[in-house]
Amino acid sequence: MTTSLEIRDDRLHFDGLDVADLARQVPTPFFLFSARQIAANIDALRTAFTRRHTATEIFYASKACSNMWFLNAVLRSGINVEVNAGGELIKALRAAFAPRQIVFNGVAKTVAEIELAVQTGVRAIIVDSLFELERVADVAARRQQRANVALRIDVDVPTLTHPGLATTHGGKAGIDRDDAPAAFDLAVSSAWIDLRGMHMHIGSQITSVEPYVRAVETALDIIDAAEQQHGIDLEHLNAGGGFAIVYRSAAVCQPADYFCSTLAADDYAEAICAALERRNPRLTLFLEPGRSIAGTAAVLVTTVENEKTKGVRDASGKRVGDERWLTVDAGFNTLLEHTNYRWYYPAVVATRAGQPATAPFRLAGPLCDGGDVFAGDGDTPFRHFPEGTSVGDIVVFIDTGAYSLEMMNPYNARPRAAAYAVVDGDVRQIREPDTFEDMVMHDVPPGAAAGSRDHPASLRTEFP
Ligand SMILES: Cc1ncc(COP(=O)(O)O)c(C=O)c1O
Repeated sequence: MTTSLEIRDDRLHFDGLDVADLARQVPTPFFLFSARQIAANIDALRTAFTRRHTATEIFYASKACSNMWFLNAVLRSGINVEVNAGGELIKALRAAFAPRQIVFNGVAKTVAEIELAVQTGVRAIIVDSLFELERVADVAARRQQRANVALRIDVDVPTLTHPGLATTHGGKAGIDRDDAPAAFDLAVSSAWIDLRGMHMHIGSQITSVEPYVRAVETALDIIDAAEQQHGIDLEHLNAGGGFAIVYRSAAVCQPADYFCSTLAADDYAEAICAALERRNPRLTLFLEPGRSIAGTAAVLVTTVENEKTKGVRDASGKRVGDERWLTVDAGFNTLLEHTNYRWYYPAVVATRAGQPATAPFRLAGPLCDGGDVFAGDGDTPFRHFPEGTSVGDIVVFIDTGAYSLEMMNPYNARPRAAAYAVVDGDVRQIREPDTFEDMVMHDVPPGAAAGSRDHPASLRTEFP
């Protein structure tokens, strides 16, 4: 959990700032980031890994949060960036990352995206299939420009995480490990491919080190075989990301609950570096953490806009109890936590932060959608807040920096939220909320001509 939270006089502070005070000055909902927490998260990873394996390079997984201010904070911290689509590549370049600092993943790269990556000369295009390897070689040959390539091999290690976040052992990404020899053969024999390394990524929010130990051993076996067979030295092993953060406090953790974690950067570093140091210390270790850099760096600030009590009835219709409901002004249009996606973020009432959180409430978002209800604490459907929490209170969701700004949407014509950041004790806006114009600008009303705006016709075929 973030180390930037503090309670002073019953009020929640984030990176030294009174959150409810800010909520009086600017409309909710908004995200509030901490520059200090981003730097601390990066430092923790860098120190843990370079202590054990000096040749480590970190590529921040920009899909976790590709806000331009955020990318600049990452750049200034001295690490690199991982991108997963042409649009993210353009953002990384616009944020002034050098081509050498960029690796390019993706499970369905278009020809146009590969063209852009080859032309840019990124550190590695991480190839997801034999088909894609040929596509990259074709593009490189046509451009008469060699392409730096790493092969993403599915190391096929089961993991215990949210079903939507597992990427191996039945997942869609990567080359089947049985096809690894053929992929290395093809890459080595292609005149326009410079084979740099191997990539693996076992999933996100991985709360145990065992899968990493198994995955790294498997990756080193694959690399050994390829190096021996072809007489080559690969530059790097990319061990992906996936390091977990703590969403649920240990007190309410169930066994095998992936919202709970006891692991720190040192534990992951030990698991990944030990085998590497023992078996192939010459390899540079690439990492692609996203959540563990962005997750604890932000909170989401919301206001309670509605309250009610509803009866709980048994099968015969008899009222057997009551539930108190609170509705806040952010739902799954703002934060991907709801009945369907089944994610969980802790929440605190900012102006009652020191009071015992013992009163059960059902907590919902504002959308006209039955699934727009927040998960409960532990295995109950209830959030627990201080008695008396009601309309006008500020509810703050914690550790919402990763995969949140990225996933906002304007469902119900609700504007995507603003974001602010605490930088050296001052607050600055890093994202404006949508205006109403933003929400209608892509629609072509009857009688109007499409394509009149100045934008690339399609990211599929054309990049600026
Ligand atoms: C290829 C790849 N690299 C890195 C990441 C970042 O993972 P995380 O945010 O869990 O560190 C992801 C996300 O799942 C990914 O798909």
